[in-house]
Amino acid sequence: MLTACRIDMHVQPRQNPLSRSDFFADQRSERPPVEGTVARGQLREDTYFYTGKLGSSPGDYMPFAVTREVLERGRERYNIYCAPCHSRLGDGNGFIPSRGFARKPPSFHDQRLRKAPLGYFYDVITNGFGIMPDYASQIAPQDRWNIVAYVRALQLSQNATQADVPQGQKVLSEPPQFHGQPGSGATLPVIDSKTSTPSEEHR
Ligand code: HEC
Repeated sequence: MLTACRIDMHVQPRQNPLSRSDFFADQRSERPPVEGTVARGQLREDTYFYTGKLGSSPGDYMPFAVTREVLERGRERYNIYCAPCHSRLGDGNGFIPSRGFARKPPSFHDQRLRKAPLGYFYDVITNGFGIMPDYASQIAPQDRWNIVAYVRALQLSQNATQADVPQGQKVLSEPPQFHGQPGSGATLPVIDSKTSTPSEEHR
């Protein structure tokens, strides 16, 4: 008798997702959010932070201060999500295009993309571009901006001049020249021996 009255947890009174309910007048067990309210974590007041746009065009500033942590997190995420195609250098010679992805990504060091506003990169990550898929579901907004900051750092790294070096410091050598492509994960760089020893060059 007693065992027959037992109600296990797996038969507890509850609603399955989207199941019918007689309790509410519209017979939906799933309730719409109360009008005029926003669920926790879903307030998107800062439009620029979530779109990278001011009105309909991309803005050219970071929505938060760029610290060392931001750049390090950006580098980590970039190397995971972008480098397979764009390469760790950002020159578009990633591993995936080398194995026949439909189109080779453009180099971030092209004049056009060096001038592109920061919000543009945010938008490409959020919505994709051409045959590149979007990364909105894999990369949260904060990390998209972290990546954007790192992409800009990559661009600066490939186009630095003597003028960018702090006063009183000397640049010892020209950057090494590579035979063919610099390494992109699939291959190791082969440094041209003629330029690999700076002392020789400056003699
Ligand atoms: C699966 C390969 C792949 C991955 C991963 C990838 N991209 Fe791309 N990306 C491409 C290709 C291919 C293009 C060129 C698309 C076209 O022209 O149709 C492109 C284009 C771009 C462009 C240039 C848009 C323009 O105006 O020319 C930017 C910026 C960009 N990607 C940023 C990123 C960032 C940031 C990430 C990482 C979050 C990323 N991509 C991940 C393949 C990829």
